[in-house]
Amino acid sequence: MLKSEAGPTHRQRITTILKGVVETSTIKSVYFRDEPSSRAEPGQFLMVWIPEVDEIPMSISYMCEDGSAAVSVKMVGPATNSLYFRRRNQPIGVRGPYGRGFSLTSGKRALIVSGGAGGAPLGPLSDLLAAKGREFTVVVGAPVTGELLFLDRYRANALKVGGKVIPVTEDGAYGVKGLASEVAEAELKESDYDIIYTCGPEPMIKRLLDLAEEYSVPIQASLERIMKCGIGICGSCVIDSYRVCRDGPVFDGEALREMKELNVTRRDHAGRPGPLQGRHT
Ligand SMILES: Cc1cc2nc3c(=O)[nH]c(=O)nc-3n(C[C@H](O)[C@H](O)[C@H](O)COP(=O)(O)OP(=O)(O)OC[C@H]3O[C@@H](n4cnc5c(N)ncnc54)[C@H](O)[C@@H]3O)c2cc1C
Ligand code: FES
Repeated sequence: MLKSEAGPTHRQRITTILKGVVETSTIKSVYFRDEPSSRAEPGQFLMVWIPEVDEIPMSISYMCEDGSAAVSVKMVGPATNSLYFRRRNQPIGVRGPYGRGFSLTSGKRALIVSGGAGGAPLGPLSDLLAAKGREFTVVVGAPVTGELLFLDRYRANALKVGGKVIPVTEDGAYGVKGLASEVAEAELKESDYDIIYTCGPEPMIKRLLDLAEEYSVPIQASLERIMKCGIGICGSCVIDSYRVCRDGPVFDGEALREMKELNVTRRDHAGRPGPLQGRHT
């Protein structure tokens, strides 16, 4: 076993659900007590075992001072459906925290771009930026109003540092009508930013990567791939020469630009590459 793979984080810890909090029309945050998760860095993830169903990767979306933490789950299949409907006191297992999270740069002003349900790791990033007194703008995109994630949380954090929050919906029923990447482009045109942090659909990440190059702004993006081991052994999360679980899930612009599979292919549960099915947000 490699030295970096030793330690208590690899042991599965059985904990119980403390509460579920509805965040949007499709996402619920599931809280549980687990000290290592409560001390994770924004962008790190857990392998969450849902008894009798599956073990799946989930970003840690809340790290609380009382030793509890949460993941924010969107129902897309058997495991996420089951976790969504688990009740208080029911058991789950967790391993981790795993992976490289977002790194705080020395810059003064960050642009956070959140696309749909993928925005789970950006909530704790905004908590950290606010705690460090770093100014930021958050562009929160979703197809419809009810799916805008962490809007109140971003607003409370932005208030502490003089930042701003721009909701964007595709149907224009709330906030700016359009795509989060279009609003991000307008922000980059108008104001100076030192870093772009993003998570969401890959077409959005690819567009932001191009914008980062055009405006000479560093970027960090969190990627999602099917994961089984979560610790760099099985290869199911491979994207080009990277393993998303171990080398990411947060990557910088240099690594993202090397990835020919980004926004092109994604492996299925059997490891077969196939076309990426993602929508722009
Ligand atoms: C690092 C990381 C962090 C994640 N954080 C969250 C989170 O905070 N909240 C959340 O709701 N989900 C998160 N996910 C995605 C989540 O793990 C998958 O949606 C889940 O494993 C699907 O399992 P299922 O049994 O519900 O559905 P499945 O039937 O297994 O999958 C449903 C559909 O989603 C696709 N899919 C499954 N797993 C992934 C994956 N890992 N990446 C991309 N597409 C996938 C499948 O190809 C299929 O089309 C994260 C994934 C990764 C890799
Ligand atoms: S999930 Fe096994 S190598 Fe990444």
